[in-house]
Amino acid sequence: MADLLQIRHPSSGTEAELAITDGTIRAVDLREVVVDGEPLATYDPGYVNTASCRSAITYIDGNAGVLEYRGYPIEQLAEQSTFLEVAWLLLNGELPTAGELAEWERLITEHRMLPDKLKTVLAGFPYDAHPMTILMASTAAFYSFYPDARNFDDPEARSLNIARLIAKMPTLAAFAYRKGKAKPYINPDDAYGYCHNFLAMLFKQAERRYVADERLIRAVEVLFILHADHEQNCSTSAVRSVASSGNDLYTCVSAGVGALHGPLHGGANEAVLTMLREIGTVDRVPEFIEGVKAGRVRMMGFGHRVYKNYDPRAKIIKRAVEDVFEITGVNPLLQVAQELEKYGLTDEYFVSRRLYPNVDFYSGLIYEALGFPPEMFTVLFAIPRTAGWAAHYQEFITDPDNKIARPKQIYTGYPTRSYVPIEDRG
Ligand SMILES: CC(C)(COP(=O)(O)OP(=O)(O)OC[C@H]1O[C@@H](n2cnc3c(N)ncnc32)[C@H](O)[C@@H]1OP(=O)(O)O)[C@@H](O)C(=O)NCCC(=O)NCCS
Repeated sequence: MADLLQIRHPSSGTEAELAITDGTIRAVDLREVVVDGEPLATYDPGYVNTASCRSAITYIDGNAGVLEYRGYPIEQLAEQSTFLEVAWLLLNGELPTAGELAEWERLITEHRMLPDKLKTVLAGFPYDAHPMTILMASTAAFYSFYPDARNFDDPEARSLNIARLIAKMPTLAAFAYRKGKAKPYINPDDAYGYCHNFLAMLFKQAERRYVADERLIRAVEVLFILHADHEQNCSTSAVRSVASSGNDLYTCVSAGVGALHGPLHGGANEAVLTMLREIGTVDRVPEFIEGVKAGRVRMMGFGHRVYKNYDPRAKIIKRAVEDVFEITGVNPLLQVAQELEKYGLTDEYFVSRRLYPNVDFYSGLIYEALGFPPEMFTVLFAIPRTAGWAAHYQEFITDPDNKIARPKQIYTGYPTRSYVPIEDRG
């Protein structure tokens, strides 16, 4: 027998029994409860306690600091897997066999090139355009080049466009970066793997062959794995929401890129570095913390809607920071970050609010050590997150429960009133 929630509204005398499934009640069932002649609804800005879908992709236990993709702990994936293997896992639900992985890698390699005419689109951006705006506009523009993406109900067309997008994202990101530096574009090279090729397209100069340190390539791989998905965050919800009106993958992912760009979401690692630079030295940390506690500033890279414990990705990144700094030399801002973290983990303000370092707290430092300018940080998030967005897009499209997103509102404006001719206003 289904578990039931009994509701009684004393003043109207309404009683209702709502079925509890998967620890939730259906918001539409609340309509049975009528208050002041109106069916009862919920008010939940930011969807703090509302499940918007059923999903089998990513599991998070925010209190325990657990993150799993399709049941596999993030720590094991970061240790043993590759980004493309993880992308396959997110999309297909299982780890690929050796044959499936080889074919998937071949497919991604085959689709890395950008359509030639897209370069004309890129040329139209101002020289100092933020690469995220280029990414957002260009992912949307992909739909003009691959209109078969509208056949999203056809699994073959859907899979092809997902592969195209995952393959082209690093190329697009590298072109956006080089455009800002007024450097010639470097086309993808089939001889390189996904992450090595990305570094080559970004950083290749006049050398005949660009070769990156294996440990740095692995650091990028790990960062990509950690950022590949994070269930119903702001950008993924944006992707699902835009998909709900019947859109193609490219339009939806473009919306995801836009959502990710905000400083409270993917833009946070850029904001962390700006914060660390502003603080500058360890001795200025206490003064900064006072400002946070007085509500004048936020400690960027701290706090999370879901994690009320140390973000498991932050732990892995913190270790990777040390590995990368062994190769590139230590950034003095690391000391500032470590001092901030000390306060964060002991000061009553942070402890009582359960604010811990999140994924962005240390990632900016690694990105900088790898040679990326701050405006590329969110781009580095968007590339791997494309796999997660695509997995959620696919899940949404094939979900029999899917519906166009259309939240309710509580109207707070004027009651009905009559139009006032312009000469009578004033
Ligand atoms: C991520 C974030 C948006 C989550 O927000 P949220 O779940 O809505 O949490 P709230 O904004 O309601 O915060 C709860 C309390 O903690 C405080 N708080 C949250 N994050 C804080 C931070 N980074 N620095 C200082 N105080 C913070 C809030 O001021 C609030 O305090 P109050 O109860 O006295 O009003 C928020 O923690 C934040 O802005 N963090 C910094 C940006 C960041 O790193 N984003 C990347 C996320 S991966």
